[in-house]
Amino acid sequence: MPYPFYKVVHFLGIFTMLTVLAAMSMHAMKGGTKADVPYRRPLMIAHGVATLFALTGGFGMLARLGAFHGALPGWVFLKLALWLVLAAAPWFVHRGRTIARAAIVALPLVAALGGAIALYKPL
Ligand code: HEM
Repeated sequence: MPYPFYKVVHFLGIFTMLTVLAAMSMHAMKGGTKADVPYRRPLMIAHGVATLFALTGGFGMLARLGAFHGALPGWVFLKLALWLVLAAAPWFVHRGRTIARAAIVALPLVAALGGAIALYKPL
């Protein structure tokens, strides 16, 4: 598949992860728990599939950029660390209202940092 296709898959994954996490954080901010999240199963499935889309799109672009000839560039590991934060977030946004409020602010910043790392490739 061409590079732009992988980038669209990458974006679809990231935007879906953020949408699901916003819904879960909002529920937790109202005092809701992980067990009583409305539409919990479809939300978790959407988040899981989106996590895979973000990763597949990312590695697809890396392949098109020829990044697999030799060691992976350092900036990819920074992005993988951020991806792990978004992938694990459904397990911590319900740990209380304060964490949920922090997540609503921090998670989009994590995503913006992911984009900036792709643009500036600092390592
Ligand atoms: C929190 C997770 C991530 C976010 C929010 C994110 C965000 C982005 C964004 C916004 C871009 C487009 C930048 C542009 O305008 O060109 C991008 C590009 C890219 N991302 Fe990610 N990304 C994430 C994780 C990953 C991971 C885990 C990988 C690798 C497996 C990856 C690999 C790439 C690559 C290869 C590009 C294209 C860079 C280029 O064309 O020079 N990203 N990412």
